[in-house]
Amino acid sequence: AAENVKATVHADQAGAKINKEIYGQFSEHLGSCIYGGLWVGENSQIPNINGYRKDVFEALKALQIPVLRWPGGCFADDYHWMDGIGPKSERPSLRNNNWGGTIEDNSFGTHEFLNLCEMLGCEPYISGNVGSGTVKEMAQWVEYMTSDGDTPMARLRRANGREKAWKVKYFGIGNEAWGCGGNMSPEYYSDEFRKFNTYLRDQGGNRLYRIASGASDYDYNWTKVCMDKIGARMQGISLHYYTCTGWNGPKGSAINFDNDQYYWALGKCLEIEEVIKKHKAIMDEKDPQNNIGLLVDEWGTWWDEEPGTIPGHLYQQNALRDAFVAALSLNVFHKYTDRVKMANIAQVVNVLQSMILTDQEGTGHMVLTPTYHVFQMYTPFQEATYLPVDLQSETVQCSTEYWKEKQKTSDNTTRPCPLLSASAAKTKDGSIVLAITNVSLDKDQTVDFNFAGFNAKQVSGRILTSKNVADYNDFNHPNVVAPKEYKDAKIKKGVLTMKVPAKSIVVVTLK
Ligand code: AHR
Repeated sequence: AAENVKATVHADQAGAKINKEIYGQFSEHLGSCIYGGLWVGENSQIPNINGYRKDVFEALKALQIPVLRWPGGCFADDYHWMDGIGPKSERPSLRNNNWGGTIEDNSFGTHEFLNLCEMLGCEPYISGNVGSGTVKEMAQWVEYMTSDGDTPMARLRRANGREKAWKVKYFGIGNEAWGCGGNMSPEYYSDEFRKFNTYLRDQGGNRLYRIASGASDYDYNWTKVCMDKIGARMQGISLHYYTCTGWNGPKGSAINFDNDQYYWALGKCLEIEEVIKKHKAIMDEKDPQNNIGLLVDEWGTWWDEEPGTIPGHLYQQNALRDAFVAALSLNVFHKYTDRVKMANIAQVVNVLQSMILTDQEGTGHMVLTPTYHVFQMYTPFQEATYLPVDLQSETVQCSTEYWKEKQKTSDNTTRPCPLLSASAAKTKDGSIVLAITNVSLDKDQTVDFNFAGFNAKQVSGRILTSKNVADYNDFNHPNVVAPKEYKDAKIKKGVLTMKVPAKSIVVVTLK
């Protein structure tokens, strides 16, 4: 019989606290993320709480979302917030220029978003409009949301029914300024940031955490210029990284793919570690104290839209493969949590790698995706203390023909993909949470975990797996990929032995 894989969890080498904001979400006015996803309106046949879709709200509440980004994305630099306040019948409609030209009625605006965040118990993260907006418009938005004084915008807010200011911490000054946010150079954008930022006044006790629009993937120069020219004026800078085969042509189906495409996706997803390291090295030079956060405020898989859905709405299915991308990415964010202070998967409902899909015909069906289950299984990691894990795993070579072709969208030449990946942390009550994935299509693995500085006595957990990595949940079969109790672990003399089947994600708690 093959020897067990040996691993060590270093409870004696506690690292940084894992920022809960790494479990952040993103909600854009795009397709049916807002309208039909989060929001159906008070008069809908679909059960709702003051217009918020009830089943979606409850599923998100269970996910303990720490932070929710809104209104975009590309939409943010086309959005004029004043059109989304006041009596709904008087709000002008808008054409969503970025996403299919859909007409929206502006019934979901600042009040609806900030009230939702309060109900979910999460921090709002607002993206302001630099591309087509004005300094005055942005400054007034901040005043409207956060001023408790006798100021013109606070008076307007009160007239619209909200007495107390909201607490708004995270504020993005533009989005993808190198592209849909204005097609700027990093030098020009840095000056724009400085100008807009000057007039975003902290109101009363509210302190804005100011986020610069950062790089896409491998654009290290963007980060360098912003660090040089904006520096400590920003508290965070974003990074966008999608597991995507490229921006031109087909991206591949979310549910019909072969083994090459499967391993390619995992290799591309894992490449985020190299990308983070390189941006981090640039930031470390200017900011050795880690004061400025690297915020991966858009990440996840980007596949072709499902056949028959509205073009430009980015509605895609979500398979067990997506669950691996979620788990592997979260493991990387844990590791770099001292610099990666937030991450927002794109997007929360019905768009790209979503947590939830609602049906597009309005019959009121909802389904939780495999990615939702990973986020749910991983909740104990929020605010736990990072622990390094040594694990020498067998690898699978991702430099297949498919990978070689798709390398053009990457800055690496080959990518050996470890079959096993693990992440561990110590929770507030002294337990250890341990996540382990086996991405192999056919090889079960048995792992012996030793613990340095911890005496493991009890183990319990859940497993997410399915017959095929292309399996997914739909409205008629909502539980094809769903977590189950995990029973394949035992502890003997402090050593935890786990059987980790092929194609599985396991999260256990050790006491
Ligand atoms: O998440 C979809 C889009 O991807 C966002 O609007 C944009 O910022 C990015 O290009």
